Amino acid sequence: MTSRESYTQQGNKGFEAALEQRSAAREAAFFLPHIRPAMRLLDLGCGPGTITLGFGTHVAPGEVVGVDFQPSVIERARTLAAQRGIPNAGFEVADIYHLPFPDASFDAAFAHAVVMHLREPVRALTEVRRVLRSGGLIGLRDPDLAGGIRFPSTPLSQVYAELRTRVWEHNGVNTHVGRKHRRLLVDAGFTRTATGASVESAGSLETCQHSALFLKAQLDGIARTAIVEGWIDQATVDAIAQDIDGGRSSRTPSQPPSCARRSPGSTPSELRRSRRARRAPTAAFCIQTERLYTNQTARFAKEASLERVCIQNEW
Ligand SMILES: C[S@@+](CC[C@H](N)C(=O)[O-])C[C@H]1O[C@@H](n2cnc3c(N)ncnc32)[C@H](O)[C@@H]1O
Repeated sequence: MTSRESYTQQGNKGFEAALEQRSAAREAAFFLPHIRPAMRLLDLGCGPGTITLGFGTHVAPGEVVGVDFQPSVIERARTLAAQRGIPNAGFEVADIYHLPFPDASFDAAFAHAVVMHLREPVRALTEVRRVLRSGGLIGLRDPDLAGGIRFPSTPLSQVYAELRTRVWEHNGVNTHVGRKHRRLLVDAGFTRTATGASVESAGSLETCQHSALFLKAQLDGIARTAIVEGWIDQATVDAIAQDIDGGRSSRTPSQPPSCARRSPGSTPSELRRSRRARRAPTAAFCIQTERLYTNQTARFAKEASLERVCIQNEW
């Protein structure tokens, strides 16, 4: 990590636990068709490594190496690899700007929700290119917050959304990096780039609950910076957390819970639905989020004359 960088969620155990829900099948779906058995694959900023472990089965008898600059997540990833019996997945503490690997030592590299956190993404991607062999492949996936839709909106959810953007930008996060993938990769020397997009939506009880848990897990990291900077107080952070939960406990009447904001209506079935919503053990089912991601694959050729930049899907 460069001295100018500060990762918003550093040491946030709840957030790390939430990341364990991620998988290669879901988060790397666009990249898996490019992965072949016997490849050596590098997963950058791997966190607790659940995406990395998914790659393990795809590259066998090759290997996948996950790197992250936080020792605690690497320790957790090693534990999960042992528990899940994935012997061809290794994990190392490493900074993406200074990878401890020789030139041309990987066939492919992947980074999920990592480039957005880097103040110098081109410098980092240039370092990744160094460890890729000629013809090697990189896959990136990052959100572009301009694609986010959240419903229903409450005053506190708006406070949270604005605070999250403010904290992220303060900490060097590029909230619109998704649209810039191709440019960053080309600037770092990659060629034959191709960009796609995917949307994560939460439209069922289970996915809404998952989405709410993720938002709540993120809150601790966001609040840490915001309180230090004097942008928010702990009481408001607690109120935001309750709002994500659906405002179950000590909400004042002036701040109706997100699920109960809509007027209950007058028909018996509407009233029944409204009562059920207030009784629910968690009201998070009323939160829907959609987040637009861009997915990027690019090839790297050491002999530039063999390759040409292929401009597709210009944003
Ligand atoms: C949002 S998490 C994503 C983790 C994982 N890729 C996933 O999607 O589940 C971002 C990860 O990048 C790591 N990270 C941030 N900056 C880094 C750097 N300079 N070098 C290595 N890892 C870094 C963080 O420690 C964190 O685990």
